[in-house]
Amino acid sequence: MTVVEHAYAKINLYLEVTGKRPDGYHELVTVMQTVSLSDTLTVTRCTGGKITLDAGGVLPVDESNLVIRAARAYFAATGAPFGVEMILEKRIPMAAGMGGGSADAAATLRALNRLDGDRFSAEELAAIGAAVGADVPFCVMGGTRLCRGIGEIMTPLDNRLEGHVVIAVGGEGVSTPKAFCELDRIFHNFEGFSAPLAPQNLIDAMKKGDLDAAVPHFFNRFEQVIEGMRPAVGEIKRILCSCGAAVAMMSGSGPSVFGVFSEKEDAKRAVAELKSSGYRAFLA
Ligand code: C5P
Repeated sequence: MTVVEHAYAKINLYLEVTGKRPDGYHELVTVMQTVSLSDTLTVTRCTGGKITLDAGGVLPVDESNLVIRAARAYFAATGAPFGVEMILEKRIPMAAGMGGGSADAAATLRALNRLDGDRFSAEELAAIGAAVGADVPFCVMGGTRLCRGIGEIMTPLDNRLEGHVVIAVGGEGVSTPKAFCELDRIFHNFEGFSAPLAPQNLIDAMKKGDLDAAVPHFFNRFEQVIEGMRPAVGEIKRILCSCGAAVAMMSGSGPSVFGVFSEKEDAKRAVAELKSSGYRAFLA
């Protein structure tokens, strides 16, 4: 039996880091939304106990791969492993702040669960995913959610962000741990840090479907450290805004940037302009 799962990328509409835990992870308040840009995972159940992965040669397929780690976590939870052949087609830019690896891990959990007769609920799968990566629980559930803790405490939001989203990326990827280290350096390990912003205004504006009212409330704490290190971030933001984006901001720990447009034609024009400037760009 073969199942196909789409691994959807995410963007962060709001991302504040509020503290650092003794284990080195950071407490966050973030609003995340899945977008249509996706990887595709095809999983075939087979005889013998082997777990194999073909990722088209674009990333390692050893125990560091989040698909393999998710499969191990799934079978550790069931105690009843079975053999699987997995094929991953990557489209989501890697090390870009769009949760591509976490989305792949989440798709693995969903695929194995389907092959296993839907043994677990989505909430149970999300809990298994928490051990694989901080963004995996969100990627299991998808949609638009307010996430706290290290990302695993989730509140679903009723309304998606109104508008047409364009995502673009250029230059070298950003390592998430390094981006957090840079924030630690600037904010002195977040000792005594009190977050000046909260996402409630953004959530209220989204509830009303009012993109203009939402614009001043988009926020990403990583932008101030990554923008200086990756000139493409500022350049992509300028192009998005010149094409009529209501807002243009980095996603996650970067360096991907998204723009939100009220007009689809403007969004399409931005994709064309970004591509002609040498960036990878997607209508998401
Ligand atoms: O959980 P995940 O493996 O995706 O996280 C990668 C790295 O990013 C962690 O090892 C940690 O250094 C950092 N991180 C963090 N706080 C979070 C999420 C990730 O410090 N909430």
